[in-house]
Amino acid sequence: MKKTEVVIIAAIAESNRVIGKNGKLPWRIPQDSKRFQDITLGYPVIMGRKTWEYDIEKCPLVKRFNIVISSCPEQESVSEHCRSYPFELAFVNSIQEALKNAEDREKAFIVGGASIYSQSLNLADTLELTLVEGSFEGDTFFPNYEHLIGSQFKLVSRETHPGFRYETYRRICYSHTRTYSDPK
Ligand SMILES: NC(=O)c1ccc[n+]([C@@H]2O[C@H](COP(=O)([O-])OP(=O)(O)OC[C@H]3O[C@@H](n4cnc5c(N)ncnc54)[C@H](OP(=O)(O)O)[C@@H]3O)[C@@H](O)[C@H]2O)c1
Repeated sequence: MKKTEVVIIAAIAESNRVIGKNGKLPWRIPQDSKRFQDITLGYPVIMGRKTWEYDIEKCPLVKRFNIVISSCPEQESVSEHCRSYPFELAFVNSIQEALKNAEDREKAFIVGGASIYSQSLNLADTLELTLVEGSFEGDTFFPNYEHLIGSQFKLVSRETHPGFRYETYRRICYSHTRTYSDPK
């Protein structure tokens, strides 16, 4: 069977790698939100419990297989007003289990937050980054990845827009065997 492509998708403040503040994104970029919706449509989206709870407020992303990682997975916590939408949802207790749930799919998207990004960087085949211009205050940061560009990832596309740009990186090699180690 063909291996599932693991794609990290993230919007990052270019100057300081901020990705979140008080459980939410520090900015509103409708064009980027639409691109996120378009790219991830139909695929598994893997997220940490805090992103699930505070960012998307327990409202599963429609027409996607939502996989929430928590050390205490709970099953029945979808917000009332979202229950009629079509979605798939699973709660798992590790990234390894999340990827196992997605192993029959062509791609799986790692959609944050910071703790999930930092544990997945060594697993990712592709990085779909939105680099937001300017400095933002925040409390969560994308892991340092710049040192991997050139050695482990190469830039394959860049699209510039006023105030932000999209950069896509593809894996060129792994620093070590591609195994998952849970830091918890
Ligand atoms: N800019 C972007 O593209 C973007 C995208 C997504 C999110 N964000 C932002 O990121 C922030 C949230 O990030 P965060 O790092 O605070 O939280 P998070 O990564 O969303 O969730 C952290 C939680 O995930 C669970 N978890 C993480 N690793 C685990 C493991 N190995 N095994 C079991 N459970 C594990 C734990 O849940 P339990 O505590 O339940 O055990 C942990 O508390 C928010 O501000 C959000 O808006 C930004």
